[in-house]
Amino acid sequence: MRFDVLTLFPEIFPGYLGQSLLRRAIDRGIVEVHLHNLRDWASDKHHSVDDKPFGGGPGMVLMVEPVVAAVEAVQAMSDMPGRLVVLTPSGTKLTQAVVEGLGEEQRLLLLCGRYEGFDQRILDILQPDEISVGDYVLNGGEVAAMVVVDSVLRMVPNVLGDERSSKEDSFSGEDRLLEFAQYTRPREFRGHQVPEVLFSGNHEEIARWRKLQSLERTRLRRADLLDNRESN
Ligand code: 6GU
Repeated sequence: MRFDVLTLFPEIFPGYLGQSLLRRAIDRGIVEVHLHNLRDWASDKHHSVDDKPFGGGPGMVLMVEPVVAAVEAVQAMSDMPGRLVVLTPSGTKLTQAVVEGLGEEQRLLLLCGRYEGFDQRILDILQPDEISVGDYVLNGGEVAAMVVVDSVLRMVPNVLGDERSSKEDSFSGEDRLLEFAQYTRPREFRGHQVPEVLFSGNHEEIARWRKLQSLERTRLRRADLLDNRESN
């Protein structure tokens, strides 16, 4: 799978790209991540990529010309144009179901804006998917783009060491519940015991216990996930 990130701040990404799971996937040729600086497509002598909003107001707005030029140039860098995703707080909220959909793609272009936003004509012309990572404000789309790469990557075959682990994650699998509690050594710490059932060797009983744990935890913490179960 190929990711192309278009950003004003490409220097934010290398530290993240070097982390273990992603590094391993890149080294093994399963994933490619290409970074592109929007400023490279600025056409005026000041290399402008953003400007003050018409009608007034705080902050800066990404300009239509350099951004459309950048997206079209990056699309042309490979045979497949790829699916264009714009990171914006006004987008559709990223859920595991959305992540799974994005994981089906061969190529994703992730366009990061600054918080004040994009000239609307960028969106009208390019018709991207618009995605938000939650109901809070970030200064720009860069951290959100890392969230997309990180979550979508887990869907790509052979990226995880054990393919079962993505199915057992919270929000994943058939019922989309929270994950059950996990334990490892030691069996007892400061009087806190590991539940006895986990030593029973009875896999059915362990599976049943975990399922109940998931349900109970979801009911207590995220009852909304149970309400939405039919619609997922
Ligand atoms: Cl994608 N961008 C910004 N600037 N803020 C956000 C966001 C994205 N998602 C949630 N908040």
